[in-house]
Amino acid sequence: MKKIVLLVGLWSLLSLSHAQLADTTDAEGEEEAVDLFTTPRTKLAAATSDFGYNLFRQLASRDTKASVFLSPMSISAAFTQLSMGASERAEKQIYRALRYHTLQDSQLHDTLRDLLSSLRASAKGFKSAERILLARKLRLRLEYLNSVEKQYGERPQILAGGARDLKTVNDWFKQQTGGKVDQVVPSPLPRNTALLPVGSAYFKGKWITRFGKPNKMETFRRDGQAPAVIPMMEQENYPVKMGIDSDLGCTIAQVPMEDGVSMYFFLPDEVTQNLTLIEEALTAEFVQDLSNSLHTVKVLLTLPVIKLSYKTNLLPSLSDLGLSEWLAETDLTKITSQPVKLNAVHHKVVLETAPEGAEYASTTPSATGQSLGLSYRVDRPFLFLVRDEPSGALLFIGKVLNPSDL
Ligand SMILES: *[C@@H]1O[C@H](CO)[C@@H](O)[C@H](O)[C@H]1NC(C)=O
Repeated sequence: MKKIVLLVGLWSLLSLSHAQLADTTDAEGEEEAVDLFTTPRTKLAAATSDFGYNLFRQLASRDTKASVFLSPMSISAAFTQLSMGASERAEKQIYRALRYHTLQDSQLHDTLRDLLSSLRASAKGFKSAERILLARKLRLRLEYLNSVEKQYGERPQILAGGARDLKTVNDWFKQQTGGKVDQVVPSPLPRNTALLPVGSAYFKGKWITRFGKPNKMETFRRDGQAPAVIPMMEQENYPVKMGIDSDLGCTIAQVPMEDGVSMYFFLPDEVTQNLTLIEEALTAEFVQDLSNSLHTVKVLLTLPVIKLSYKTNLLPSLSDLGLSEWLAETDLTKITSQPVKLNAVHHKVVLETAPEGAEYASTTPSATGQSLGLSYRVDRPFLFLVRDEPSGALLFIGKVLNPSDL
C-alpha cells in the first residue's frame, strides 16, 4: 500500500505534460514556436539539430536492428563546405536538406564558423573535423579552394590518385581529433574517387558529478537475445533532471557535463529494439521544451561505461533527405566545370564516457528523489543525445540496442 502511494507521488512529481506544451504551441502557432531560438547562433544550432534528427531517423530506419550514432554538427559542416561550390540552384537543395532555408542568415558561414569554434572549446570535450577531398585531375577552381580555406581554416585536400592518398587523408583526421579517430576513410580508396566529403567527431564526456563505483559488471538486457554483462558506473544521490513521458513510454534523464554540455538518455519502459516512437518525436523544439520541463532530482544513477565507435557511409540516408535529385546530377560548378559524382559520404564517430567528475555527490539525500528510493538504471536498449545547452547544438545522437555492436 505504501509503495503505491509513493509511486503515485512520484508519477505526479516527474510526469511530463505534453498537453501543456502542445497548448502553448497551438495558441502561438508554429512560427512563434521557433522563436525559442532567437539569435543567429541558436537558430543555426536548431536547424542543424533538426537536420540531425532527420538524418538519424533515415539511418535508423535502414537497419532497425543495429545500434547507430552520428554527429550532426560534423556532417552539416562538411556539407556546408560542399555547398560553397554549388550553383545557386544546387545550394538551395543542399540548404533545404540542412534546414538552412529556415534561417535567412546572410552571415551563415560566419555564424557556423563561430558556433563550431565555440563547440570545439576544449572544456566541452568535443572535437570534430571535416574536409572535402577532390581529385587533382578535375581541373579545380582555385577560388573555391581559397574561399573554403579562408572561411573554415582548412583547404580541401587534393587527391593525387596514388596509393599514398589514403594515409595522408586518415593521418589528417587522426591529428585533428587528437589521435582519437583513426581510419576515417576505409581502405581501399577507390581509384576513380573524384569528390568525397568526410566528417569525423570525437567526444569524451566529462561529468560534473563523479561516479563513486566506476566499474561494476552488470547485466544489460537485450531484445530477443540473452543479456550481456558489461561495465557500468553507479552513484547514489546523483543530481539529474528527469521526467516520465507516458506518451513515449520512456523515462528521460538529462545528466549535466562540463561547460554546458548535457547527455540525455531516453530509456523505454520495456526491453525493446523498437524505439520508433521516441525517434519520431525528436525535434530541436521538442528537446528545448524538454530541457525546460524536466525536474531536478537526486537518484541512484547507473550508466553503462560507454566507449562507442561507429562508421558509416551516409550517402543513402542523405539521398533520402531530399538530395536524390541533386545527387543524380551533382552540380558543383564553382568547384569544377567537369561532371562529378559523389560515391560516398564517410562519417566516423567515437564517443566515450568515464566515471570521473569534478564534484562528489552529496551524502545527504535531497527531500525529493532519493528519499523516494528513486533510481535510474540504463540497463536496456536506449537512445541518447549529447547537446550543448547554451546554443542548443546537437553534438551527437545515437541508439544503443546492443553494447557489443559498437
Ligand atoms: C514499432 O513501434 C511503432 C510505434 O509504436 C509501431 O507502429 C511499429 O509497427 C513497430 N515496429 C515494429 C517492427 O514492431
